Amino acid sequence: MKAIRLHGRGDPEQLFYEDAPQPEPGPGEVLVRVHATGVIAPELTWPETYETKAGKVRDLPIPGHDLSGVVAAVGPGVSDIALGTEVYALTAFDRDGAEAEYAIGLPSELASKPRSLDHVQAAAVPLTALTAWQAYFEHAGLTAGQTVLVTGAAGGVGVFAVQIASWAGAHVIGTASGRNLDFLRELGAHEAIDYTATRFDEVVHDVDVVLDTVGGETQERSWKVLKKGGVLISVANPPSPEQAKAHGVRSVWFIVEPNRQQLGQIAELIDAGHVRPIIDTVLPLAQARQAFAQGASGHTRGKIVLRVKE
Ligand SMILES: NC(=O)c1ccc[n+]([C@@H]2O[C@H](COP(=O)([O-])OP(=O)(O)OC[C@H]3O[C@@H](n4cnc5c(N)ncnc54)[C@H](OP(=O)(O)O)[C@@H]3O)[C@@H](O)[C@H]2O)c1
Repeated sequence: MKAIRLHGRGDPEQLFYEDAPQPEPGPGEVLVRVHATGVIAPELTWPETYETKAGKVRDLPIPGHDLSGVVAAVGPGVSDIALGTEVYALTAFDRDGAEAEYAIGLPSELASKPRSLDHVQAAAVPLTALTAWQAYFEHAGLTAGQTVLVTGAAGGVGVFAVQIASWAGAHVIGTASGRNLDFLRELGAHEAIDYTATRFDEVVHDVDVVLDTVGGETQERSWKVLKKGGVLISVANPPSPEQAKAHGVRSVWFIVEPNRQQLGQIAELIDAGHVRPIIDTVLPLAQARQAFAQGASGHTRGKIVLRVKE
């Protein structure tokens, strides 16, 4: 099969479009014919990309853990996923991914694709929507009427973070550059702040939940916008427990996990018209280098998707 494989560490120039052995589903595994896959630019710097959690070096790893496709075969012991089912998934980061014509998924990772989306659109959903979902409902305990600040609100995680918080009945404030302010309001943000013109920490107060997707200095300025007892959740870099204590708030750092049941709930939200994927760019699989380089620019609106099957 054709696949993208990493021949070295760390940068898009190490990505090669080439022939690779087609995987076979082992016990408890599902083989998916991949139609499209979402680009996760930072994965080139993650340890899991190059070594399994057990410490085994991965040979010529295939990136890409957001997939949309069709079940092509099931391994022994898989009884609840039928051949031909249209599925979408976030797959584990330390296995070969979906920048290939075929990929392995686990039943615990694969959910039915949203009916209202095509495969390219569906591939833009899993990682980023699950990240926002888990931040709010596993870590923040978000409830209707609370105020949420999303930094980096026009990015991959941000566009779902704004829409899901809005659907959940929160008052949503998002930060982005000026070109994205109307876009954030269309997604459901009640307030949109241009970070290039206004310091959000000078105009935002009494927030219940900060979802920080930018990190660094932006995260440092986020503490003081929280009300006492609020929570700062970052997916960009771990927040300081000392700062959290000093401000009388909670801090959370987490890594998103595959979750079939949550992807099912997200598919329902999408099919009901409450949430939609935002796609910045679609490129053919062979142009993965270009896609990763563009993703690393830090100014993607939503997701970049690689089309695997024409
Ligand atoms: N821990 C986890 O499980 C997890 C999961 C997913 C992602 N992540 C991490 O989360 C971070 C965000 O990922 P992503 O895919 O959402 O990012 P992304 O799509 O690359 O973010 C790009 C967006 O960030 C905006 N932006 C850049 N600088 C900004 C600033 N100073 N203030 C506000 N907005 C700014 C840009 O808006 P403008 O173009 O308007 O500037 C652009 O829309 C990354 O570090 C990623 O590795 C972690």
